[in-house]
Amino acid sequence: MQLFRTKLTAHDFTEGGLKRCLNAFDLTLLGIGAIIGTGIFVLTGIVAATLAGPGVILSFVFAGIACAFAALAYAELASAIGGCGSAYGYSYAAFGELIAWLVGWNLILEYGIAVAAVANGWSGYFCDALAAIGIELPKALTHAPNAGGTVNLLASLIIVILMGLLILGVKESARLNAAMVGIKLLTIAIFVAVAAFHVDPTLWQPFLPFGWFDHTPEGKPVGVLAGASIVFFAYVGFDAVSTAAEEATNPKRDLPLGIVASLAFCTVVYMLVAALLTGVVPYPQLNVSSPVAHALHLLGIRWASALVAAGVIAGLTTVMLVLYYGLTRIIFAMSRDGLLPSWFAHVSPRTHTPIRVIVLCGLIMATIAGLVPLGELAELVNIGTLFAFVLVCGGVVVLRITQPDLHRPFKTPLNPILPLLGAASCGALMAFLPSLTWYRFLIWLAVGLGIYFTYSYRHSNLSPKPVKVRHLR
Ligand code: ALA
Repeated sequence: MQLFRTKLTAHDFTEGGLKRCLNAFDLTLLGIGAIIGTGIFVLTGIVAATLAGPGVILSFVFAGIACAFAALAYAELASAIGGCGSAYGYSYAAFGELIAWLVGWNLILEYGIAVAAVANGWSGYFCDALAAIGIELPKALTHAPNAGGTVNLLASLIIVILMGLLILGVKESARLNAAMVGIKLLTIAIFVAVAAFHVDPTLWQPFLPFGWFDHTPEGKPVGVLAGASIVFFAYVGFDAVSTAAEEATNPKRDLPLGIVASLAFCTVVYMLVAALLTGVVPYPQLNVSSPVAHALHLLGIRWASALVAAGVIAGLTTVMLVLYYGLTRIIFAMSRDGLLPSWFAHVSPRTHTPIRVIVLCGLIMATIAGLVPLGELAELVNIGTLFAFVLVCGGVVVLRITQPDLHRPFKTPLNPILPLLGAASCGALMAFLPSLTWYRFLIWLAVGLGIYFTYSYRHSNLSPKPVKVRHLR
């Protein structure tokens, strides 16, 4: 058995015929569109209230630094290797099929569970919007069992609606995305403009009520660093820019720019929102499902609260749509390589969309979104994504050694220091996650390895196919 068989480059993953029409600005907007979502609009409040206090601002800084290292590594590999398979494709080139499979398997976790998690955030804001116009839904139907309800019906419903849209062939056009990003940024601008006049600096004291890193008597990690490992979720999605490698007009210059610029912009926005949120409302009161709207509501500014809630609902919808779409792309790429059954790669001749994979993923994600609360889902997304980031950073170092002549339009500066710092900081964020998340992650990896060795290894396109012998009579 060859454990490290590999493809030299991942150009095999490219789908020809895509139009190169996205410039650095479009790519930055694409990144911001996929990045800003539940993390800032929901998790900031929960993390401030339960893990970090006003120190959540620093949690965003630490998570942002780890992502910046990973972003540089992504930029190098996206410009040198390309392909819509993203980290899955890069790992194929750097580490071979087994690791590529594990990365792809974790990207499925990242994108799939992230959609379910964002659906939870969406449901929280939608419920609030309904409540604002006098429609109160019973808690049993709007919360998962672990969160005091029976099923989060709204979270499941939005995924089923998106499933229908994707089947019909929703096209993620740069213009539509730009409009949605505009709404999102407007929403944030309204919050910033209104909240800035109501800051009470005494609310930032104590700044680190939970310290840097500690454990509760029940063994749960708390503190700024534990908070960083959760708010990391807010940055998930910047890697989606790398899947546009084949549609960039000048990938050599624009892809690294798009990845780094969207990340830098979001980091600043996140710190600002976190600072204002904890500066206008006492942090213990932020443990709600729609903290940004809730804060404005507590300040008595109802019009802004309603406007922000509407903007967030629109903004979260695009995050889900892009991630759901990305999920189908990754599964598609893996089945094209033979690692998953070709059944998944079937495209409907009528709608030109991979209906089977859309429906299967949609039903599974809708079930998960209805039954598991946001916090637990976000932790699982983070650990899987961080694992992929560690390997992407490692991939830069390995490929510089094994393929020194590979054309690299963008090079991560200070190799191997920055990629190694990236792998170390992402690994550290993984270490700050609760042990229960680690157990779930290890189970996920074990299932993945089981599938690889029982199915994918034998069906891979790299597997030697048995020679058919014709017997002459
Ligand atoms: N970064 C995305 C969000 O925060 C997944 O919703």
